[in-house]
Amino acid sequence: MKIKKAIFPVAGLGTRFLPATKAMPKEMLPVVDKPLIQYAVEEALSAGIEQIIFVTGRGKSALEDHFDHSFRLEQTLISKEKNDLLRQVQEIIPESGTIVYTRQNQPLGLGHAIWCARDIIGDEPFAVLLADDLIMSGKSVLGQMISKFERLRASVVAIEEVSKSETDKYGIIDGIDSGDNMVEIKGMIEKPKPENAPSNLAIIGRYILTPRIFELLEKQQKGAGGEIQLTDAMASLLDDQPIYGYKFSGKRFDCGSKAGFLKANIAFALENEEIKKELIPYLREISKENGV
Ligand code: UTP
Repeated sequence: MKIKKAIFPVAGLGTRFLPATKAMPKEMLPVVDKPLIQYAVEEALSAGIEQIIFVTGRGKSALEDHFDHSFRLEQTLISKEKNDLLRQVQEIIPESGTIVYTRQNQPLGLGHAIWCARDIIGDEPFAVLLADDLIMSGKSVLGQMISKFERLRASVVAIEEVSKSETDKYGIIDGIDSGDNMVEIKGMIEKPKPENAPSNLAIIGRYILTPRIFELLEKQQKGAGGEIQLTDAMASLLDDQPIYGYKFSGKRFDCGSKAGFLKANIAFALENEEIKKELIPYLREISKENGV
């Protein structure tokens, strides 16, 4: 029961980033010099994923082109002997047949997007990665979760503590600490108001799920925000299968929000020595100017 397939739902409208996302997918927004989706795909490949499944929608062709050859660009880089850049644009491209695309005809919600990949997944456990949760870590977070899955043989979702006032932005779990950074989940609820939240442990965009979830998503029940929610299907899954929350090691940036996206850009830029030299004095200067 090896985890070989990963779904990347990329069919959302990205309304929080309009007008930037009017003609460009949110997942193509760059953090320093790489689009969000590339970080997520690299994380999955380094965790041993063999098949990448993009659930796309209208206007997402830039995403497909990003993972394909651009002969004109490559020829130009060859003729100008820009070998480093050539290597970088070629490295992005997985072997032919590794990427599969399917469409979500209407953005009916994350649960619905995942259900769209049911026939590609078939009857095996699989991973889901949301590119707008960008995680800086040593070992890939999906890799950490696969290790947990291999031991437990049950669904595992990434969780993180969030401030109580922010519970209405996340799926929130109720569970029992089972040690070793794991929580045995007893219930979950999508976007609860702080006063109704069972905890401040939020589900982050990395999941390992059993194929039983597709039978529950099949019901297409609408939940919070009128969308078909993955959290609701997982809450039903708890009736017959265990699900574990995993407190991953790494720093997560919510790149679906403007502030989170900007923080990610700063944090990743500071990993680059060249940019760091220019950025640190600038950050000091503007902090002073803003009285910090
Ligand atoms: P979000 O909840 O961030 O929604 O989706 P969104 O549409 O992308 O962005 P906003 O809130 O309007 O700014 C989380 C992930 O689920 C995908 C998105 O592409 C994103 O990767 N998604 C969401 C779908 O693929 N289909 C949907 O119907 C909804």
